[in-house]
Amino acid sequence: MIITVASFKGGVGKTTTAIHLAAFLQGQAETLLVDADPNRSALGWASRGDLPFKVMDEWEAGQDVSYNVNPDGNMVIDTQARPIPEDLSALAETCDLLVLPTTPDILALDALVLTVEYLKKIRASHYRILITSIPPKPSRAGEEVKALLRDANLPVFEQGIRRFSAFQKAALQGLPVYSIKDPRAESGWQDYEKVGEEILAIVGARSLTAKTAAPPAIPDFF
Ligand SMILES: Nc1ncnc2c1ncn2[C@@H]1O[C@H](COP(=O)(O)OP(=O)(O)OP(=O)(O)O)[C@@H](O)[C@H]1O
Ligand SMILES: [Mg+2]
Repeated sequence: MIITVASFKGGVGKTTTAIHLAAFLQGQAETLLVDADPNRSALGWASRGDLPFKVMDEWEAGQDVSYNVNPDGNMVIDTQARPIPEDLSALAETCDLLVLPTTPDILALDALVLTVEYLKKIRASHYRILITSIPPKPSRAGEEVKALLRDANLPVFEQGIRRFSAFQKAALQGLPVYSIKDPRAESGWQDYEKVGEEILAIVGARSLTAKTAAPPAIPDFF
């Protein structure tokens, strides 16, 4: 399956999400993380440490024969913030699920509304919003934003990602969060595992109802 992570706003957790969804999917099948952000944050993450899956830029991925001959493989695509609408169309059309991370604050939500309005205009249906960096209790920001988005009939992952400094340590050390020595590392990983399970259920249910399962293909924009 192909999972693409995108957002109109920067710094909302796209790269962190792409890394951890790739780590989760690698547990199911061979997974490739494509770093399609010119800042190359995912490649930087990989170069600082050790990740349990391959990371390539979009050019290398287009050449990667091993993925092309492995129809059961997964691909996770990390993208740059503020895609132009045409790019967002291409991203939405070429993946099984577009994951839209947002932090639970007003600036991120404003940007999210723009993204979703555009996706509605192009009739994209395979997307889901992921609330990230959820502050600890007594803040209720995570739950409030989820309720707000659900009231607006927008598709939101049941599970959100809590704000833990373990994620920043993971980025610095070039590791998945579960390999970090931090009391909250395991909780952070569990959040992404639950999101990964939701993705398997969403994409699995859709491919059961599809008349013919389309084989995964390298997106056109590579
Ligand atoms: N759940 C989290 N808890 C705490 N910090 C987080 C969490 N998710 C991301 N961060 C931190 O927030 C910052 C931005 O995250 P990240 O780089 O994943 O976002 P991005 O959307 O990919 O940014 P950009 O638009 O610049 O590519 C980083 O410092 C990262 O470590
Ligand atoms: Mg990034």
